[in-house]
Amino acid sequence: MRSKSNKPDTLLTHAGRAPEAYHGAVNPPVYHASTILHKSVAALEAAQKNRYNQVTYGRLGTPTTFAFEEAVAAIEGGHRAIAFACGAAACYAVLLAYLKAGDHVLLPDSVYGPVRGFANGFLQRFGVVASFYDPLIGAGIAELVRAETRAIYLESPGSHTFEVQDVPAITAIAKAKGLATMIDNTWAAPLFFKPLALGVDVEIISATKYIVGHSDAMMGVAVCTEESFPRVREMATLLGTHAAPDDCYLALRGLRTAGVRLRQHQAQGLALARWLAQRPEVVRVLHPALETCPGHALWRRDFTGSSGLFSIVLRPDIPKPAIDAMLDGMELFGMGASWGGFESLVLPGHPERLRTVKPWREGAVLRLHAGLEDLGDLIADLERGFTRLAQHLA
Ligand SMILES: Cc1ncc(COP(=O)(O)O)c(C=O)c1O
Repeated sequence: MRSKSNKPDTLLTHAGRAPEAYHGAVNPPVYHASTILHKSVAALEAAQKNRYNQVTYGRLGTPTTFAFEEAVAAIEGGHRAIAFACGAAACYAVLLAYLKAGDHVLLPDSVYGPVRGFANGFLQRFGVVASFYDPLIGAGIAELVRAETRAIYLESPGSHTFEVQDVPAITAIAKAKGLATMIDNTWAAPLFFKPLALGVDVEIISATKYIVGHSDAMMGVAVCTEESFPRVREMATLLGTHAAPDDCYLALRGLRTAGVRLRQHQAQGLALARWLAQRPEVVRVLHPALETCPGHALWRRDFTGSSGLFSIVLRPDIPKPAIDAMLDGMELFGMGASWGGFESLVLPGHPERLRTVKPWREGAVLRLHAGLEDLGDLIADLERGFTRLAQHLA
């Protein structure tokens, strides 16, 4: 990192770049490599000993991977970062890095669905017990720690329902009890929340979202402290979940504009959330920057902004065919998994199918991603949607 400033926008622009190493090219090139040749046995042995610090084999990363990892580590304030094939791979590898048969792990009830599935299915098959906690539990988590508890997993805000967690309260308890903590920080990364500064051992980001930012590549990244790095690096190497060099290039390219994109997603998201809050069909807007969101005060305390993803809760008397009619005709809001690209999305969420600690008893949840389209056009699309919805009401 050559820049002396560590302000977020400067880091986003300069971290991980070394034009002098690449004939003056602004961006590091894409290196495709599996085999890396060594000139002597001594050089081979030295490389093997130093395999996490130099290019030794494609699975451990090429210079493109290292450039991406260096940039993310600098931006997130970590010691080192580790690139993964996707965000889910990063979540699973970090859990596996800390858990073994007989251990217990705590996860928030609002955790990303596939991570819940991994904990209840895969981890359980290998003798790890997972239990879930109210994401708003804060320091109360101490009561749930068992003799076998080894790790506390966090995700803030929570998937689909956006509960903001009290990260410092939880990390303080984890540290006092000798437990590891890992957090999925995808919603706010790479700008609005820095969990490592609040005592988390590993930060996980699905780079597929705002870092790649263009809905065309998948990647994940785990950002580690000096202490957590060897453990997570070892597991990532064992699992072989490395990121492809082309995807590292796209993620690094996305990172350079992530600051301006995120601020625009923030503005669009807030405007849409406030407009939706006035609609008679909407009971509640679950957007961390709005007071109606559980944990809003914690968002104010710990975050420096909000991204473009949030949910609305519809009136419980609105039937599914009416919601389907609204969604089927959307022109600008696409329907599909993932988020964080330049385009707007809408997706029915189903917290009632997953939640076990606090069963979801409210109306249907629609998750929206505010893209970069003209705000008036987006509102008009939603307005037409509500008109279609109304036509299906008695
Ligand atoms: C909060 C969160 N974490 C992790 C993931 C998984 O990331 P990926 O799709 O890159 O595997 C997602 C994907 O939607 C997500 O929303």
